[in-house]
Amino acid sequence: MAKPHKFWNRLAKFYSKQPVADEGAYQKKLQVTREYLRPDMAVLEFGCGTGSTAIVHSPYVKTILAIDISSKMIEIAQSKADAKNIENITFKRSSIDELNQPDQTLDVVMAHSVLHLLENRDEAIAKVYKMLKPGGFFVSSTVCIAETMRFFKFVAPIGKLFGLTLRVFTTNELLDSLTGAGFEIDHQWQPGKGKAVFIVAKKAGE
Ligand SMILES: C[S@@+](CC[C@H](N)C(=O)[O-])C[C@H]1O[C@@H](n2cnc3c(N)ncnc32)[C@H](O)[C@@H]1O
Repeated sequence: MAKPHKFWNRLAKFYSKQPVADEGAYQKKLQVTREYLRPDMAVLEFGCGTGSTAIVHSPYVKTILAIDISSKMIEIAQSKADAKNIENITFKRSSIDELNQPDQTLDVVMAHSVLHLLENRDEAIAKVYKMLKPGGFFVSSTVCIAETMRFFKFVAPIGKLFGLTLRVFTTNELLDSLTGAGFEIDHQWQPGKGKAVFIVAKKAGE
């Protein structure tokens, strides 16, 4: 079976040229996220893709570590940041599971359009919880395919042949994963039926 990084490497150039599907919703998510950011913050984004979101938020925080399993996505992200002379983002090729980040060192973790691509989202969410400082925030945007495309449960295994892992779950199952890991839901918004659900989850402690 093909590996996920190969699938995303093949897609990277095409992906970088695609317009944002719903610009209004994207801008609103950026704006809400921005309200959680402070100039002294250390941020992680995993599944950063071609780096657009990290680049937008970079002026408002101290540092961003932006990781992605695809080296091609990281190459494109790095060249976009270089073209804008951005120096506080470190782009690195890494999956969330191989990332070696000490516990309680991050203020905010972001994961956009990636939680449904993970082999084990509960493990990743537990890891995010550990890496966050008490009172830290996990900001995610996720298509919960089970609500709109139930048939994906049957076709998802075909995607695996090409390296695409697709996990089918509902918004409630995602919320259960987050609260099960210890998070409290601070903000939840969905632009419309079938659209990605935007969630800001808070680690208790402050
Ligand atoms: C649908 S794209 C989303 C990219 C970007 N976050 C965005 O919103 O445009 C999913 C990205 O997640 C990356 N990815 C998939 N599995 C990952 C994993 N386990 N760890 C880190 N990145 C992963 C892929 O390489 C791809 O760039």
